[in-house]
Amino acid sequence: MGMKIIGTGSCLPQTVVTNDDLSKIMDTSDEWISSRTGIRERHLVKEETTTSMSVEAARRAMENAGVTAQEIDLIIVGTLSADHVTPACACEVQAAIGAQDAVAFDINAACSGFMFALNIAHAYLQMGVYKTVLILGAETLSKIMDWNDRSTCVLFGDGAGAVVVCADERDRMLAYDQGSDGVRGSVLACKNRTNNNPLVQTGVEPEYVHMDGQEVYKFAVTAVPASLSKTIKAAGLSVEDIDYFALHQANIRIIQSVAKRLKVSEDKFPISLDHCGNISAASVPILLDEINRKGLLKPGMKIALSGFGGGLTWASAVIEW
Ligand code: ACO
Repeated sequence: MGMKIIGTGSCLPQTVVTNDDLSKIMDTSDEWISSRTGIRERHLVKEETTTSMSVEAARRAMENAGVTAQEIDLIIVGTLSADHVTPACACEVQAAIGAQDAVAFDINAACSGFMFALNIAHAYLQMGVYKTVLILGAETLSKIMDWNDRSTCVLFGDGAGAVVVCADERDRMLAYDQGSDGVRGSVLACKNRTNNNPLVQTGVEPEYVHMDGQEVYKFAVTAVPASLSKTIKAAGLSVEDIDYFALHQANIRIIQSVAKRLKVSEDKFPISLDHCGNISAASVPILLDEINRKGLLKPGMKIALSGFGGGLTWASAVIEW
């Protein structure tokens, strides 16, 4: 048994914050941010939460797929910024949409979270365990940013994206690749946990996202083209056969470098980071939803997906639409 994507949905917070808006509250500029990253604005939560955006994205994806909540039998949310340690965001989504028969859990693989969740769903479908799966990437990164660190806080945004996949005789997941390198984990970390256990005097203050931008850049421009090449080859295709490359939206320079290394036109790399910033696990499903709703995806098209980031982690897939 194989897997087919049958619907997409997304939800961004209402509040839009431009680079110029940021320059009024910190020492930065539209020129610095947009020239280095391609980001012009991002959506940040005020009232919304990781769960509320997930619920809206899920509803839109189910409507797009033409399935009811009763048909969903597995919900996986890729997130590093769930509203609570427990219950999981996926369980809260289950309750809100009324998918009472679903199994629900979150996974944390940072910016690769949605891709890891997609691969988990694929494995369940291949084994015949489940038939219809709701997969989300959802983040409220604004709450784990250090707003005194202009080198990181300007890069990120909030939002949620969702896809619905179902079991199908013909597998539209043509190949996938995923990997982790915990040895290099410290180059992109967020250790914000408090501990008031009287037996443990850690003295550790809550920490926000910390990133060695240049090391992350080097990792991304090496790991992503290698993973994509490996996956495309495993699918029995060449890079010319791929209609779109839907990559994690971290930075335009990373995407341009991947395009160059693969010798593919940048036109095949749709972009959402200009208006969304980097939304970690949510960026790939939001991008997929945007190009799906623009009518760019036609049956039979081959799409290469890739997520990469904290952990370090990376994951790619080639799917047929
Ligand atoms: N506005 C103005 N100046 C700034 C800002 C800002 N927001 N942030 C940093 N600066 C200054 C620094 O203080 C520094 O000034 P100095 O030279 O006087 O000391 C100067 O700009 C250069 O700082 P760097 O950190 O060296 O900037 P760099 O050129 O490396 O660009 C960037 C930073 C864009 C993050 C780059 O490292 C990069 O592209 N990294 C890729 C990683 C990435 O995109 N991560 C996103 C999240 S990770 C992921 O999703 C996989």
